Amino acid sequence: MIIGSNLIFVKNLPSTNTHAGHLLKTNDVPEGTIIYTNYQSAGRGQPGNVWESEDGKNLLISIILYPIFLAPTDQFIISMAISTGICDFLRKYIPVCSIKWPNDIYINNDKIAGILIENSLMGDRIEHSIAGIGLNINQVKFISDAPNPVSLKQITGVNYGITACISQLASDLDKRYRQLLSENYSQIRNDYISDLYRLNEWCNFKDSEGIYTGRILSVTDSGRLLIEKKSGIIAEYSFKEIGFIP
Ligand code: BTN
Repeated sequence: MIIGSNLIFVKNLPSTNTHAGHLLKTNDVPEGTIIYTNYQSAGRGQPGNVWESEDGKNLLISIILYPIFLAPTDQFIISMAISTGICDFLRKYIPVCSIKWPNDIYINNDKIAGILIENSLMGDRIEHSIAGIGLNINQVKFISDAPNPVSLKQITGVNYGITACISQLASDLDKRYRQLLSENYSQIRNDYISDLYRLNEWCNFKDSEGIYTGRILSVTDSGRLLIEKKSGIIAEYSFKEIGFIP
């Protein structure tokens, strides 16, 4: 086991990702180390967002990886591996789970988990990667203005042990990381694409030119979203260039 071979628990932290960054500067940290906490006072989401999580209710972790075998142009495969690993975990509890491009984890139309991956590049390689995951487990009331949060407990009615969830998730992510190490990229990519939220469904999107009807066809190896327009034109987007219209 690589992911989860070393666990570091700190009761309260500003952010597990920030803490992981500090550890990497000062210590030799074994690959697969998981930093986890009960509470983050400054949990970070995608740029410009905060991550809400009630004390002791949810899974808040950061994983330290050294994917030095990957070139920066291939870095999106890490997002794909982490997203599919979270879906592998969630399907043990609930049958439906999808990945809203690029890496939000959804149950139907609600967000159950967010991922913040911070890669440090050195020349043409990835020196280290901090994969932060916030997964809503037992929280039943959300107070921030996040549009559509949901937790495992809200769906199943069951209360879960957070450390048991961390062990199970670590094992599921470890299987995906091993696929990466063995260069089984096609398995990860195919699973990621087939799990995409709204894959092949005609629906409305908004880009810089306005709202249009289209359907998601795929995601490129570099992580760009491919949408077919009704006209037959295929448009390609980077993160933040396109929005889903509910
Ligand atoms: C998102 O905006 O969807 C990404 C959310 C990522 C939240 C997790 S919680 C654990 C780790 N530490 C952080 O500060 N953020 C990530």
